[in-house]
Amino acid sequence: SRRITVRDVAAAKARDEKWPMLTAYDAMTASVFDEAGIPVLLVGDSMGNCHLGYESTVPVTMDEITLLSAAVVRGTKRALVVGDLPFGSYQEGPVQALRNATRLVKEAGVGAVKLEGGERSAGQVELLVSSGIPVMAHVGLTPQSVNAYGGYPVQGRGEEAAQQLLRDAKAVQDAGAFAVVLEAVPSELAAEVTRSLAIPTVGIGAGPDCDAQVLVWTDMAGMTAGRVPKFVKQYLALRKLLGDAAKEFAEDVVGGAFPAEPHVFH
Ligand code: KIV
Ligand code: NA
Repeated sequence: SRRITVRDVAAAKARDEKWPMLTAYDAMTASVFDEAGIPVLLVGDSMGNCHLGYESTVPVTMDEITLLSAAVVRGTKRALVVGDLPFGSYQEGPVQALRNATRLVKEAGVGAVKLEGGERSAGQVELLVSSGIPVMAHVGLTPQSVNAYGGYPVQGRGEEAAQQLLRDAKAVQDAGAFAVVLEAVPSELAAEVTRSLAIPTVGIGAGPDCDAQVLVWTDMAGMTAGRVPKFVKQYLALRKLLGDAAKEFAEDVVGGAFPAEPHVFH
């Protein structure tokens, strides 16, 4: 069976079907989500926080995104794999964006790329799409701007900010984006944006009325250390389960219970 394409994603909106997206950063985890039927996997620059040990997404490089995107593509058969363009890889302008997006498509084999920004990134979206690279845009809270925000504040509150968010979403749609992530915006505004657009909205902290929902997989699975944002639902306590397994292994080794007869060659 063939891979999901951006056309399938567009068709889902026409049929009013909701769909899930998860992040993935390695082949093994990606294969689990692929076999579970998750149609779209994002190799997010959230890998900075939850896979590479950085404090934010800001330090993530093209080399890192390319390496891990290639692994996710190798680990999957069905999913549309979307590679995130990291901070500094597209802000200089459309030509820089095209050079780096082309690298992700050619070296990693992703089916689409994602970048942050609405009106400010419309020129980049337009050149990529006209060059044959599908683009998922990302508006509302854009984490690569953490140093400008001074944190991760909810976006689009108040009439002026709401109008700007609508303009941003329309700008990337007009530029040819096949979908747009809405991050950390009031549910009512996300619903209005979703109604106003012909392309699917992918919500994260954006309420129930988006066309799709995305979570960072380590948040979804309860692998993340410490507090998680309000919008996260944890479906598993993976951090505890894995830690308990490691402790049991350690006890078995120290106490001599592992390896036992079934694990031994003679
Ligand atoms: O990097 C990421 O994981 C993302 C999603 C949260 C949308 O951009
Ligand atoms: Na991201």
